[in-house]
Amino acid sequence: MEHREFEFTANDFDKVRAILHQNAGICLGQSKDSMVYSRLSRRLRALNLSRFSDYLAYLEGNHGEMENFINGLTTNLTSFFRESHHFDTLNTYLSLTREPKRIWCAASSTGEEVYSIAMTVVKAYGSFEPPVEIIATDIDSNVLLKANQGIYTDDTASSLTYDDKKRFFHKGTGNNKGFVRVIPELRKLVSFKQLNLINNQWSCIPSNLDVIFCRNVMIYFDKTTQAQLLHRFAQKLKNGGLYFAGHSETVANLNSSLISVGRTVYQKRSGTP
Ligand SMILES: C[S@@+](CC[C@H](N)C(=O)[O-])C[C@H]1O[C@@H](n2cnc3c(N)ncnc32)[C@H](O)[C@@H]1O
Repeated sequence: MEHREFEFTANDFDKVRAILHQNAGICLGQSKDSMVYSRLSRRLRALNLSRFSDYLAYLEGNHGEMENFINGLTTNLTSFFRESHHFDTLNTYLSLTREPKRIWCAASSTGEEVYSIAMTVVKAYGSFEPPVEIIATDIDSNVLLKANQGIYTDDTASSLTYDDKKRFFHKGTGNNKGFVRVIPELRKLVSFKQLNLINNQWSCIPSNLDVIFCRNVMIYFDKTTQAQLLHRFAQKLKNGGLYFAGHSETVANLNSSLISVGRTVYQKRSGTP
């Protein structure tokens, strides 16, 4: 490997991959060594270490560092109304009945996805007090903090329509110029929790869910983990409930109770446990 500020060997890289896989389920490809180097370098700098092997020893001896390690290595790319056809489908589904609903956004990153869900809910029910519970989770504590604050740059918000921006966001002024903030009425519809999907503790997630969004995270897991998670997601859904997957994620041939009902949208078959 070329000369770098910190010593980073092929063995260090393999260890990082193994630890990340074991603790977050994420499989990093062989080509991701530069990414690992740049993302973890700031931890070495903060800890005043010069070799990745020292950092890995520190990680082993300091349980609290695992959070920084995982936060550093997750990929959090997201945007408002990403794969917009999903929100049209969600709107149609929510508009079918006025019954109370429960929605789980299972890898919510910095919040754009779940606030897009919340905006869709408000539009479908025509109210800021819909009978809808929305839970958003992610493994990464940094993105959850950001999502909780609901503050975005004008650039991030540029994918929103003029009407949505006007209705659901406050425009920053003075020191906050260049930012928008989710209005409190929308913010209070969502509860954020930290959840590692590969842990067995899903007790914070209610059963009988109407909708699960789990988009663009399964791609980081191996097929066995994907199949196990799909089984558990299907168990959390009520019959007829919808599962929204990312654009390149496979579902139907990994779980027979989730039936394709549209572009990367699946419905739990009636009569399955
Ligand atoms: C690429 S983002 C996708 C965000 C959003 N779902 C979307 O499609 O726009 C992937 C998210 O999955 C989260 N993630 C990765 N591994 C996870 C795990 N084991 N449990 C829960 N979340 C995880 C990351 O922290 C990151 O925020």
